[in-house]
Amino acid sequence: MVMTLTAYEKIKESLINEPKTWLITGVAGFIGSNLLETLLLLNQKVVGLDNFATGFQHNLDEVQGLVSKDQWQSFTFIEGDIRNLNDCQTACTGVDYVLHQAALGSVPRSIADPINTNDTNISGFLNMLVAARDAKVLSFTYAASSSTYGDHPALPKVEENIGNPLSPYAVTKYVNELYADVFARTYGFKTIGLRYFNIFGKRQTPDGAYAAVIPKWTAGMIQGDSVFINGDGETSRDFNFIENAVQANLLAATADEEAKNEIYNVAVGGRTTLNVLFTALKQNLAINGVSYTHEPVFRDFREGDVRHSQADISKIQNALGYAPNFDVMAGIQKAMPWYVELLS
Ligand SMILES: NC(=O)c1ccc[n+]([C@@H]2O[C@H](COP(=O)([O-])OP(=O)(O)OC[C@H]3O[C@@H](n4cnc5c(N)ncnc54)[C@H](O)[C@@H]3O)[C@@H](O)[C@H]2O)c1
Repeated sequence: MVMTLTAYEKIKESLINEPKTWLITGVAGFIGSNLLETLLLLNQKVVGLDNFATGFQHNLDEVQGLVSKDQWQSFTFIEGDIRNLNDCQTACTGVDYVLHQAALGSVPRSIADPINTNDTNISGFLNMLVAARDAKVLSFTYAASSSTYGDHPALPKVEENIGNPLSPYAVTKYVNELYADVFARTYGFKTIGLRYFNIFGKRQTPDGAYAAVIPKWTAGMIQGDSVFINGDGETSRDFNFIENAVQANLLAATADEEAKNEIYNVAVGGRTTLNVLFTALKQNLAINGVSYTHEPVFRDFREGDVRHSQADISKIQNALGYAPNFDVMAGIQKAMPWYVELLS
């Protein structure tokens, strides 16, 4: 039987044969630390930049425990801030591929504190663009966001049709895209923006006021607390398991020139309501020996939230060969033991 390799398998094979040097900003965060784990397991050289604003040393420690000693020695950590151009320049030195993840996430955080969100997500982003351009890196891939679709009503979301932003956070992520496009036009520095739709999986923190829904509810259920649903529970999202997002980053970083200066949706292309999510988490916890018997508590809709979100992923499938290996249920199944071990 002839086995054909997927685009992702081919990229991984070629990286193992010819290792590269990567910079991951936001490396101590959820997505950054998962990128780090995958790249080190592929024997890549990785530089990581983080100021621990919302990331954790324990995420880095966990990755260290999952890779070999030699692989860990291929990692250089810089504690620094993307708001400081010097730190960005130091981090970009000698780097082939940049995966820029550092930002202050969360719509409610940006509503509470638009100034800090703006400083990190816009000024920090601009510093990274300048530093990466000047270091002549081979590619620059950055974390954009589905929040850029704002109030555009169409479903599924297609890259070129966006509405008005609904939060300061959404403004910052849209400005990233505008700067990226202007850098291609004015300096010939072409980037790729990945519009993530609700990514979830291990090392996404359940703690703090701005935790994302899956870790927050999972932790609440494990601890026997009430779970709050904002609105009627029929709000829907295209939840995407972290391993699909890692795949998208590796495909984007190594993409041909003609695939650059573009924005791509990174999702599964599905739609899960909060009510369905609640039941799925409860069932998967039961499989892992945790029983949760409370009903969810419904409360008001949350400011700045869009009602439905679902991606059209044909652009990234066609241009980069992205093929998500996990749908939302498979992702929840894979993520759950990690939360149970962490929190029980
Ligand atoms: N998780 C999602 O569902 C999702 C969805 C859309 C977009 N995004 C974007 O993906 C990226 C990664 O998100 P995440 O979920 O891993 O969040 P995260 O908070 O876990 O990670 C962000 C990391 O960036 C670091 N950071 C913040 N400000 C910094 C600064 N000034 N200098 C250096 N480092 C700094 C934080 O300490 C943290 O480690 C962000 O750009 C976020 O906006 C995430």
